[in-house]
Amino acid sequence: MLVTGGAGYIGAHTAKALHEQGYFPVVFDDLSLGFREAARWGAFVQGDIRDTRALAEVIEAHAVKTVVHFAGLIEVGRSVARPDLFWDINVAGTISLLAAMRGRGADRLVFSSSAAVYGQGGRGPLDPIPETAPKAPASPYGDTKLACEWMIQAECRAYGLSAVALRYFNAAGADPSGEIGEAHEPETHLIPLAIAAGLGRGRPLTIFGDDFDTPDGTCLRDYIHVSDLAEAHIAALKVELPPGAFEAVNVGAGQGRSVREVVAAVSRALDRPAPHVIGARRPGDPPSLVADPSHARSLLGWSAKRSSLDQIVADALRWETKPTYGAGLRAGLAGHSPRTPA
Ligand SMILES: NC(=O)c1ccc[n+]([C@@H]2O[C@H](COP(=O)([O-])OP(=O)(O)OC[C@H]3O[C@@H](n4cnc5c(N)ncnc54)[C@H](O)[C@@H]3O)[C@@H](O)[C@H]2O)c1
Repeated sequence: MLVTGGAGYIGAHTAKALHEQGYFPVVFDDLSLGFREAARWGAFVQGDIRDTRALAEVIEAHAVKTVVHFAGLIEVGRSVARPDLFWDINVAGTISLLAAMRGRGADRLVFSSSAAVYGQGGRGPLDPIPETAPKAPASPYGDTKLACEWMIQAECRAYGLSAVALRYFNAAGADPSGEIGEAHEPETHLIPLAIAAGLGRGRPLTIFGDDFDTPDGTCLRDYIHVSDLAEAHIAALKVELPPGAFEAVNVGAGQGRSVREVVAAVSRALDRPAPHVIGARRPGDPPSLVADPSHARSLLGWSAKRSSLDQIVADALRWETKPTYGAGLRAGLAGHSPRTPA
């Protein structure tokens, strides 16, 4: 099992889950944003996904049948400033991976897509989003994810690959063991930032807008525990699909949580207030991005198990107070929140 980007946040949690279920993950990561310490299950190969030959060698050497493809750039704001980089790594990187898989017996792909393909959300502003909702990414990052989906779908039709694109909503939390967790540079995710503010690291959290048309005025997002996400990958690589099939599947808990609810959960877990200030809305932030996860249930037999807000925050807090890598990043966290899903 090849896991590109397996030294990153979601990839490491998935590699661990794969290993626990008897698979042998071969992590392929250039460590530009990931951590060698996070890739501790199976084998590790350092390399760039744009290097087709290096990928092909790994696929042949390990007789890889299935690829789980996480590697890429994720920060929405940076994609606006550097679309060239995002198209190169995310799209050209996926072209390179498909070329390396083709003709080498690797005929199942699970791809990290994103709710960012939906842009502003579903039919009504607060409605859950089904996979059939219009695709209208609001950033170059979202464009690259949608472009990859199209490319993968065409690859399936042309060459008999079968693939599942998992459209994650807001990945959150950490492995309950505390041995791996979230470490992004820069960190733009709400829960680590709220915890950092509560622990007195850096500035108070900024809540971007409290005048949305939502129950408490702050944005609603669908937080999905990273361990639940890992399980969704295992379900996606096991599901029976005929050659040529392509499926896009939302991976969310199906429940919208407001920024204020997250801040309250963090304050509860810390038993002290998480300092925050109200800032202006950010351009393009939709009031609500919540999954309709029914396709994941019917196709994959998967649903979220560990994604209550209190569980997510408890697991994130265990990691944030004692990270085993990326501690330098965690020390200087400052206030942002929440962004649209990566
Ligand atoms: N975190 C989220 O909330 C979220 C939401 C939706 C989708 N996603 C998608 O999930 C995937 C993983 O996200 P994450 O949060 O784990 O990110 P991450 O930054 O923690 O992990 C990405 C990994 O890819 C590696 N990488 C980057 N460029 C590479 C290259 N050219 N060659 C080889 N490796 C490379 C990095 O070193 C890193 O280990 C991404 O594709 C992201 O777009 C994430």
